[in-house]
Amino acid sequence: MEPPCLALLVFFGTLLVLPQASVGSTRHYTFNVAMQNVTRLGSTRAIPTVNGKFPGPKIVTRDGDRVVVKVINNVKDNVTIHWHGVRQLRTGWYDGPAYVTQCPIRTGRSFVYNFTVTGQRGTLFWHAHVSWMRATLYGPIVIFPKHGVPYPFPKPDKEVPIIFGEWFNADPEVIIAQALQTGAGPNVSDAFTINGLPGPLYNFSSKDTFKLKVQPGKLYMLRLINAALNDELFFSIANHTLTVVDVDAAYVKPFDTEVVLITPGQTTNVLLRANPHPGCPPATHLMLARPYSTANPGTFDNTTAAGVLEYAPPGHIKTHPLFRPTLPPINDTAFPANFSARLRSLASAEYPANVPREVDRAFFFTVGLGTNPCPANQTCQGPNGTKFAASINNVSFDMPATALLQARYYDRVAGVYTADLPFEPLEPFNYTGTPPNNTNVSNGTKVVVLRYNASVQVVMQDTSILGAESHPLHLHGFDFFVVGQGNGNYDPAKHPAGFNLLDPVQRNTVAVPAGGWVAIRFFADNPG
Ligand SMILES: *[C@@H]1O[C@H](CO)[C@@H](O)[C@H](O)[C@H]1NC(C)=O
Ligand SMILES: *[C@@H]1O[C@H](CO)[C@@H](O)[C@H](O)[C@H]1NC(C)=O
Ligand SMILES: *[C@@H]1O[C@H](CO)[C@@H](O)[C@H](O)[C@H]1NC(C)=O
Ligand SMILES: *[C@@H]1O[C@H](CO)[C@@H](O)[C@H](O)[C@H]1NC(C)=O
Ligand SMILES: *[C@@H]1O[C@H](CO)[C@@H](O)[C@H](O)[C@H]1NC(C)=O
Ligand SMILES: *[C@@H]1O[C@H](CO)[C@@H](O)[C@H](O)[C@H]1NC(C)=O
Ligand SMILES: *[C@@H]1O[C@H](CO)[C@@H](O)[C@H](O)[C@H]1NC(C)=O
Ligand SMILES: *[C@@H]1O[C@H](CO)[C@@H](O)[C@H](O)[C@H]1NC(C)=O
Ligand SMILES: *[C@@H]1O[C@H](CO)[C@@H](O)[C@H](O)[C@H]1NC(C)=O
Ligand SMILES: *[C@@H]1O[C@H](CO)[C@@H](O)[C@H](O)[C@H]1NC(C)=O
Ligand SMILES: *[C@@H]1O[C@H](CO)[C@@H](O)[C@H](O)[C@H]1NC(C)=O
Ligand SMILES: *[C@@H]1O[C@H](CO)[C@@H](O)[C@H](O)[C@H]1NC(C)=O
Repeated sequence: MEPPCLALLVFFGTLLVLPQASVGSTRHYTFNVAMQNVTRLGSTRAIPTVNGKFPGPKIVTRDGDRVVVKVINNVKDNVTIHWHGVRQLRTGWYDGPAYVTQCPIRTGRSFVYNFTVTGQRGTLFWHAHVSWMRATLYGPIVIFPKHGVPYPFPKPDKEVPIIFGEWFNADPEVIIAQALQTGAGPNVSDAFTINGLPGPLYNFSSKDTFKLKVQPGKLYMLRLINAALNDELFFSIANHTLTVVDVDAAYVKPFDTEVVLITPGQTTNVLLRANPHPGCPPATHLMLARPYSTANPGTFDNTTAAGVLEYAPPGHIKTHPLFRPTLPPINDTAFPANFSARLRSLASAEYPANVPREVDRAFFFTVGLGTNPCPANQTCQGPNGTKFAASINNVSFDMPATALLQARYYDRVAGVYTADLPFEPLEPFNYTGTPPNNTNVSNGTKVVVLRYNASVQVVMQDTSILGAESHPLHLHGFDFFVVGQGNGNYDPAKHPAGFNLLDPVQRNTVAVPAGGWVAIRFFADNPG
């Protein structure tokens, strides 16, 4: 086993004595990471898989259970697995990000992840957390409530995970290595997938179509997961209304929608009543997933994955009419604002929303793209011959060679990280206005240190430096409440008055709106 190795957030303070946990079961899994030949879009490629499956196996657990997964690395690249959204209460070293909470698992080695799922119900997912290995190494985590505890909505007759991904004809490891070398944006994917399958709207792909067979009158719960590397996706099923009941393994006040928007790293449970147009002849209904993006055409994959909703009795698909849902325009910036405004916590006696009302520590983070200069002896393909660099408050993250948590645990942080990430931009500017002339960012391995149980507010502000774009942000080890969001620049004198502190949605991943801002709050209750 590798040594226990920290998170970007380091907490100091007394540890709480946990109340005696109710005894859950332990779920054991073995993940053998190995290459497997897979054919998509007419060509065959050997890809890293778990247990030969693509997408990988489903982890099924209950709120309160322990999950133990032995991961064996039988591929040439380093691997770690991240249990995306699992709180990892005081088990930060099992969270998975390479060089943050652990050293990677080398070829031929194994590592046992061992954690409990506490106070979460719904859907999460696991994925590799080194480089771009997650392009093919991912799978669902299904979390049922504790034994005997019902859902706060009608019990579905059947539950089906639907995991979206991005398929690359080239090796994703080569793509990201090239992008880091040249400084250009990485090559875009060749297809989106639904449960690993692109569907009939791509060449050579009609037999690789996800089919969901349903019976009229039955209630289905689709556990939607966006495991795509880069793109936010619209999802819709022709002639069917979806009822959103849970996001990121936390219940929400149910609401109906024709279209779901799901950001990479997010999950959404929706109910689907199989009951189309009674009295009409049987039909086949397409389900579609395609991006929401404000980027320039050509800089992102704008193709469409399709699956099929089939009514029994099957066998007459070709003769049935085929219905296609209508998706919003790719750059429909009003949709994400309206959709997120509808997401509300249950905030009931059983499922309270423990929203921090006071703020001990407030952060204002600019989030966006800048540039790094091109090394003298190289030519670069980023803006004006520079290299693209993503940054927070103008600091681009340098991956350390020692895991942050390990450095902290052994009290050897010197040379690994510094605790001086600016809590606000050093030089304020019009974040969504005319870009500054100097687009250079600095580099560093900088962290924020928080006191145990501090209440924290983070406002994330998109920048238009190299084009306003929506950026998904995921917080490890915590759920947070999305208390506000808006267009343009955040105004600390004006906007907090409009924050929702009653029933804001609780989640682990949020999109910083293109040319806008989002405010989150959480309690720093998970040292690590
Ligand atoms: C994939 O197929 C190629 C060509 O048939 C073969 O040489 C290779 O061993 C296969 N790889 C795996 C991992 O099965
Ligand atoms: C793989 O991980 C080990 C640490 O576990 C590290 O020493 C090595 O440099 C990594 N290899 C690559 C190619 O990143
Ligand atoms: C998992 O962790 C628990 C609590 O520390 C421990 O009792 C158990 O032995 C561990 N299981 C494995 C397989 O390591
Ligand atoms: C990425 O795209 C560029 C330009 O089209 C191409 O030259 C390069 O080979 C591609 N990289 C990979 C890994 O396919
Ligand atoms: C999709 O991207 C291609 C270029 O890659 C572009 O020609 C086309 O107009 C785009 N379509 C939409 C709907 O943006
Ligand atoms: C099903 O949806 C299609 C297109 O979205 C629409 O044209 C058709 O009228 C709908 N059928 C019914 C019965 O609602
Ligand atoms: C979306 O793109 C279309 C076509 O490129 C453009 O005409 C329209 O103004 C864009 N809408 C928004 C909201 O940016
Ligand atoms: C470029 O220069 C750096 C040092 O500045 C050196 O490490 C690297 O090997 C050089 N690369 C090439 C391709 O010459
Ligand atoms: C690139 O250079 C041109 C001319 O010097 C300048 O107008 C433009 O703002 C620069 N763009 C970026 C992204 O730096
Ligand atoms: C920031 O830039 C935007 C877009 O150009 C403009 O509408 C706004 O007035 C500017 N804000 C300030 C405070 O200058
Ligand atoms: C940016 O560059 C332009 C043209 O060179 C110049 O007019 C302007 O004053 C510069 N802006 C700032 C903030 O330096
Ligand atoms: C930041 O790091 C990148 C790549 O690691 C390097 O090319 C660049 O020169 C660095 N920039 C600064 C300002 O140190």
